[in-house]
Amino acid sequence: MEKILVTGGAGYKGSILIPMLLDRGDKVICYDNFLFGPSPLLHFVTHPNFEVVEGDVRDVNKLSVQVRKADTIIHLAGIVGFPACASDPDRANTVNVNGSLNLAMSMSKLQRLLYASTGSVYGSVNGTCTEESETGPLTIYGKNKLESERIFIDRLDNWVMFRFATVFGISPRLRADLLINDFVHQAIHNKQIVMYEGHHRRTFVHIKDCASVYPFALDHWDEMRGEIYNVGDDRGNYTKKEVADQILKHVDYYLHEADIGEDLDKRDYTVNYEKIHKLGYEAEVSVEEGVKELVKVMSFVRYHNPWRNHG
Ligand SMILES: NC(=O)c1ccc[n+]([C@@H]2O[C@H](COP(=O)([O-])OP(=O)(O)OC[C@H]3O[C@@H](n4cnc5c(N)ncnc54)[C@H](O)[C@@H]3O)[C@@H](O)[C@H]2O)c1
Repeated sequence: MEKILVTGGAGYKGSILIPMLLDRGDKVICYDNFLFGPSPLLHFVTHPNFEVVEGDVRDVNKLSVQVRKADTIIHLAGIVGFPACASDPDRANTVNVNGSLNLAMSMSKLQRLLYASTGSVYGSVNGTCTEESETGPLTIYGKNKLESERIFIDRLDNWVMFRFATVFGISPRLRADLLINDFVHQAIHNKQIVMYEGHHRRTFVHIKDCASVYPFALDHWDEMRGEIYNVGDDRGNYTKKEVADQILKHVDYYLHEADIGEDLDKRDYTVNYEKIHKLGYEAEVSVEEGVKELVKVMSFVRYHNPWRNHG
C-alpha cells in the first residue's frame, strides 16, 4: 500500500484525484488550508485509508511532519491562475514559491514528487509548443510555477512534472473561472458570451483526464521520472471561437466578439502531447462531451448578488 500526501487536495483537481488513489488501494493524507472549505472532501472523508490535516504549505514545521509519513507527494496546493495571483502577489509568491521550497526542504531524495505545473510557463510561443520550447512566463502565476519547477529540479532526484492544458469539467470544488466552464455559465445565465481574442488557439483537458495522469505516472515511474510532460490531447487544441461554437450546439445564446480584453499569459499556440502519448497515456473525455456535462450542471450554478432583490 502506497502512502501518498496530496497538498491542496481539497481543490478542483484534488477532490477528483483522491478518490482515484483510494480506489487503487493507496493510503492518502490531504494537507490543505481549506481556502474554499472542506466540503469537496465530504463524499469520501470516512474512507478508512483517508486522513485529512488542516495546514498551510507556508508552515514548514507542520508540513514536514506530514511529508515524513509519505512515500509519494503530489503537490497541488497553491494560489491558482493569474487573476488570483495578481490580486495579491505577495500571497501568491509566499504560497506558490515558498510553499514549494518548504516542501523540497522537507523531502528526502528517495521520496517521489509529482508536481502540477502549467502551460502558462511557456508564455508566448510561435507555432507548436513542445516540452523543449523555451519558457518565458508573463504573469506572476506562470513565473511562480516555473520557479517551483526549478526548486524541485535543483533539490530533488525523484520527480515527475506535468504542464497541464487548461482544465474543464465538473468537480466537487467547481471552478467557474476556467475558460470552458465560464463560457458555458455565461451562455446559460447571461444568454450571451463576451469573447475576446476568439481566434487564439488554446488547449484543454478534462478534469478526469487531468487527475488520471497521476495514477498513470505512479504505474510508469521508472520510464517517467526526471522528466517534464505536457498533459492534454491533440483533440483538445481548440480556438476560443471553436469552443463557443460547440456550446451553441446545446445552448441558444448570442456570441459577442469584443475588441477589448487580452490573455495576459499570451497563450495562442498548438501544444504537442507526443511525449506522454508515446508512454500510453490518452485523454479520454473530449471537449464536446465536457460541454454537454457542463450544460447539465451549470444551470444550477448561480452567483448570488446580495445587493439585488433578485438573482
Ligand atoms: N485547473 C487548471 O486548469 C490547472 C492547470 C494547470 C495546473 N494546475 C495546477 O494544479 C494544482 C491544483 O489546481 P486546482 O485547479 O485544483 O486549484 P484549486 O484552487 O481548486 O485548489 C488549490 C487548493 O490548494 C489549497 N491551498 C491554497 N493555498 C494553500 C496553502 N497556503 N496551504 C495549503 N493549501 C493551500 C486550496 O485550499 C485548494 O484546496 C495547482 O497547483 C495548479 O497550479 C491547474
